[in-house]
Amino acid sequence: MSSLFNTPYPPLFLAPMEGVADSRFRKAIAYIGGFDHACTEFLRVPTGGHVVSLAKRYDPNETAPIPQAAQIMGSDPELMGAMCLELAKRGAPRIDLNCGCPSNTVTGRGAGSSLLKDPELLYQVAKSMVDSVDIPVTAKLRSGFLDTSLFKENLMAAQESGIAFLTLHPRTKAEGYGPPANWDLIAEAKNLLKIPVVGNGDILNAKHALNMLNHTKCDGLMIGRGSVINPYIFWEIKACFEGSHYTRNIGDLLTFLTLFKSHFEADMRPKVRVNKLKQLVSFLFKANETLLEMRNNMLADTSSEDEYFCKVIKILKNHY
Ligand SMILES: Cc1cc2nc3c(=O)[nH]c(=O)nc-3n(C[C@H](O)[C@H](O)[C@H](O)COP(=O)(O)O)c2cc1C
Repeated sequence: MSSLFNTPYPPLFLAPMEGVADSRFRKAIAYIGGFDHACTEFLRVPTGGHVVSLAKRYDPNETAPIPQAAQIMGSDPELMGAMCLELAKRGAPRIDLNCGCPSNTVTGRGAGSSLLKDPELLYQVAKSMVDSVDIPVTAKLRSGFLDTSLFKENLMAAQESGIAFLTLHPRTKAEGYGPPANWDLIAEAKNLLKIPVVGNGDILNAKHALNMLNHTKCDGLMIGRGSVINPYIFWEIKACFEGSHYTRNIGDLLTFLTLFKSHFEADMRPKVRVNKLKQLVSFLFKANETLLEMRNNMLADTSSEDEYFCKVIKILKNHY
């Protein structure tokens, strides 16, 4: 994994986003590319779960040739280790431990952000994962559960487990997505840890990416919502690193949308298909003021899937 950071510019990661950066989104954005590593949304590993069946939901090739890690969420060290073994057999290039998901149905069982309440358990889970496989294991943390009182303990527990690098989304579980991400905490993590730190939170354009690097000195950048609003963001950041300019090719965006739609399952109901397109529109139409003005109309539109898709394409061709 050190080779990932041994590059002229910091590596760029596509963030896991359950329900938004789903498999069809990841396959489509891989066509545009520009990121160096992708990751699935969290795969739950519930107590008593059957890891062989659970691991079958993971396909490492969705973003090929860009490597795609599997993210897992659970709190039983032995089971999480066994899950890693299955995922490695399926070709995972890296496995990421979710220490951030705020969902109550998940946190109720001690997984996700609940691990941040118990640095010792976080250590045990991560260590069992690291010890089970030869591929790199990483962890993605929020800055705390209710507050940041265990921030340093959690970072140290993660590092001591032997993980290859850590991603920090510097908001507590209690903060949700409310206040701005506290980039000072990424700088603090970078000062404290020996392993690479990937910074995440509120990067919406290339300038934000450079600002985060300057502010925190982090080793890599992870982008979530910004990549759904602007799927070219990774190329724009890379161009910025090189002091050049990336010229958007609208054809790529249209192919991205066509690919996204092509991955709808045959048995998906028409209403669900349109709603999936609307979810994407709700992000893409935040890209500029003109689109933002049209967003509400597009979200209220009741056209059929094909009509709706044609309208979206026409608007994006003229205004993206
Ligand atoms: C809809 C949604 C789903 C998310 N799902 C996950 C997830 O499955 N695993 C995870 O570690 N983080 C998840 N996150 C958090 C993101 O990976 C990221 O940390 C957060 O959005 C901040 O980064 P951003 O400002 O670049 O979006 C999710 C975020 C959103 C908005």
